[in-house]
Amino acid sequence: MDAIEVIRAKRDRGELTTAQIDWVIDAYTRGDVADEQMSALAMAILLNGMDRREIADWTQAMIRSGERMEWSALDRPTADKHSTGGVGDKITLPLAPLVAACGAYVPQLSGRGLGHTGGTLDKLESISGWRASLSNAEMLDVLRSAGAVVCAAGSGLAPADKKLYALRDVTGTVESIPLIASSIMSKKIAEGTGSLVLDVKVGSGAFMKTVPAARELAETMVALGTDAGVRTVALMTAMDRPLGRAVGNALEVAESVEVLAGGGPADVVELTVRLAREMLEAAGVTAGKDPEKALEDGSAMDAWRRMISAQGGDPDALLPRAAETMTVEVPESGVLTRLDAYAVGLAAWRLGAGRARKEDPVSFGAGIELHAKPGDLVRAGQPLMTLHADETSRFERALEALDGGYAVGEAAGERLPLVIDRITAP
Ligand code: URA
Repeated sequence: MDAIEVIRAKRDRGELTTAQIDWVIDAYTRGDVADEQMSALAMAILLNGMDRREIADWTQAMIRSGERMEWSALDRPTADKHSTGGVGDKITLPLAPLVAACGAYVPQLSGRGLGHTGGTLDKLESISGWRASLSNAEMLDVLRSAGAVVCAAGSGLAPADKKLYALRDVTGTVESIPLIASSIMSKKIAEGTGSLVLDVKVGSGAFMKTVPAARELAETMVALGTDAGVRTVALMTAMDRPLGRAVGNALEVAESVEVLAGGGPADVVELTVRLAREMLEAAGVTAGKDPEKALEDGSAMDAWRRMISAQGGDPDALLPRAAETMTVEVPESGVLTRLDAYAVGLAAWRLGAGRARKEDPVSFGAGIELHAKPGDLVRAGQPLMTLHADETSRFERALEALDGGYAVGEAAGERLPLVIDRITAP
């Protein structure tokens, strides 16, 4: 078999055989298929698609490129959640300890932010001493002591995806539903969770800008998980505006702690509780504590403190704050009709909360505090948002990103419901 034959087959809109897919993924992982050849194949897939069987084969081949973790030593079911990423999406932080407090183990491998969406590991690293890299034995220890672990995927997990994702990032081939679905699901299946809840974001701040595109991604991922024996369900949720009132690493940790303390913004609490119930149901935990109760009685907060401490973090440490702030005021009185998720995400990124290249550092304190959300009544001159950055020079470019990103009108405009739909296996 050779790479040119495989590329030509997809270029000419053919179906790749199982043998072709197994070969090309294996040869690419070993370095026998060159980056330029894989780029051509990824572009052919982006343009011509893959059918369900091809996507399933592609996913399985990526899983087989590395190790497959398993948690049979644990005495309770495992459940995980994956979000396709958005602005202000800090849900993993309160959710993982909450689900642990309600009776399931949560082994979660997370990523870092790239571009305008934040990464869970960057957020947690703003907690003094917290460590993202754990061995498999350490993961098991943290799971046993805290019930939940959130850490970086080791280099042995789906190495084909690691290589391919880096290549897609620089060749304009990220936005392909078959490639996104197989990339996410290969890692989640290899992680060994028994059940999985997907949070597929829809809107300007998400990968998927429209409901039909998000539905196709959700259905594809649910089918891949189900076929691999992982009980999988997906929620499609709104990302036309930011989630919660904090965007940026340490700001989002602080908001998550508020939720764990029984407060926090209504949308973050609602989505956290809804996803927790979905995870417990998918894991078959029916007799555990209700998530709302676990937020009220402090047991979710206790699990958070155990989880952070078990990974070297100090849950009582003061969070980093940026040196400079700037207030953006409401331009006129009325109803905030729009607060665009992408504009806010891009502004936070320009303030230093995100990175342009994988090796760049992030500023833990940088980001945006939102003082109003779409639908709120606002008065001219009141603070709309506070920008946080380490250098005042960053404010101008952030303000440019926000230009046109919000609007005040007479009546609340159209917005997506927080939970748009629920997708289960057919
Ligand atoms: N996240 C992933 O892990 N892979 C993608 O392709 C897109 C988002």
